[in-house]
Amino acid sequence: MNDVKAADTRPSRSLVGRDPWTTPLDEIDLAHPGIWQANEFLPFLARLRRDDPVHYCATSPLGPYWSVMKYKDIMTMEAAPHIFSSEPTIGIVDVIPEFTLPMFIAMDPPKHEEQRKTVQGVVAPANLKNLEGLIRERVINILEALPRDETFNWVDLVSRDLTTQMLATLFDFPFEDRHKLTYWSDVATAIPGAGLIDSYEEGFEILKECLAYFSQLWQERAGKAPGDDLISMLAHGEATRNMPPREFLGNLILLIVGGNDTTRNSISGGVLALNENPEEYQKLRDNPSLIPSMVSEIIRWQTPLAYMRRTAKVDTELGGKHIRAGDKLLMWYASANRDDDAIDNPDQFIIDRPRARQHLSFGFGIHRCMGNRLAEMQLRILWEEISRRFDEIEVVGEPARIYSSFVKGYTELPVIIRSSD
Ligand code: HEM
Repeated sequence: MNDVKAADTRPSRSLVGRDPWTTPLDEIDLAHPGIWQANEFLPFLARLRRDDPVHYCATSPLGPYWSVMKYKDIMTMEAAPHIFSSEPTIGIVDVIPEFTLPMFIAMDPPKHEEQRKTVQGVVAPANLKNLEGLIRERVINILEALPRDETFNWVDLVSRDLTTQMLATLFDFPFEDRHKLTYWSDVATAIPGAGLIDSYEEGFEILKECLAYFSQLWQERAGKAPGDDLISMLAHGEATRNMPPREFLGNLILLIVGGNDTTRNSISGGVLALNENPEEYQKLRDNPSLIPSMVSEIIRWQTPLAYMRRTAKVDTELGGKHIRAGDKLLMWYASANRDDDAIDNPDQFIIDRPRARQHLSFGFGIHRCMGNRLAEMQLRILWEEISRRFDEIEVVGEPARIYSSFVKGYTELPVIIRSSD
């Protein structure tokens, strides 16, 4: 069992441009966003999987933390919420109580189950079936309006627009104001100083507008018979109807962010993956019935959330390392999804992969993504409609990636759809 050495407290640097195989292990801080934005993260994940699969980083400006790299170790953690707690937060940044919103993704049993139960009906199979027609209609409208023979940003015109429309549908949110939902989602995950907001205080002020808007919708729906949109479910649910305002806002943000960034980045990531793997794109053209398994492969390949954090409740051991009560651990799904002890040929994008759903992009255990079937359905419908219309969506320039080690995604993906004669 290895104990952690005395902490080196010099702040870590970006790893961009460094050699993943010779960088000293104690200088590897995976949570620094640099390598994620520069798309240089994969070899660093492979290095840690090989040389130090439960790795301690003492030098992060965000405080010391463990990186858990292997599929089986992450499964062990996910199956033991009594040891590895989701409280107080699932991101690496420690909570500042006045800017922290309670939400069930960051709660342990029994409160977690009570709140999850109240809203999960919105993604129950019967409700998804009801939504399918509406999603298809919205997908068709978006695809039919796309420009032909000219370069455009797929992220804006398709990925963002489609997921924004979906969110508005789930909340039965006024359609003309739907862009506010995406804006709030972006603010909720923004890093101060990286463009959108300058400080957490500013972000919090903006989210208060979100609370005010939703509180009004809540009042209206609470006064009516229960409906099957998310706000009505929260307003009438036994475990949620007396929620304090901060908790209401927290769970709203969870549902907005959960259903937004992740699906958006899978929509973009799929187009990119097919362009980088033309033989797989050809397989899809030859056999569109592969779409359901392709969707799972896209979600594995993209891994839209690179990690989730847990906090040790008690002293314990993982992968031969001694973890102390109170330590933070990041479960790197982005690494587990490339772990060849769990997944065959993990560095290949294979749209007809057997057991394609066996990835960890949705997590595992009691917190496994509540919206996983909805996300898969959206992507399936999108690719069915794309396949009916376009022979090829061609990526014609470098994608621009988000500056974050948590949300893995794109701000730009230049593409052209050529009209067929
Ligand atoms: C939880 C990923 C789409 C709602 C999670 C977790 C992950 C995740 C990794 C945490 C799992 C854990 O801690 O073990 C994704 C990905 C998506 C996606 C990759 C798309 C490709 C959605 C959608 C919704 C949603 C469309 C909308 C309903 C949630 C909620 C939770 C959650 C409410 C918290 C579950 C809990 O704590 O019990 N998701 N998600 N997600 N997701 Fe998703």
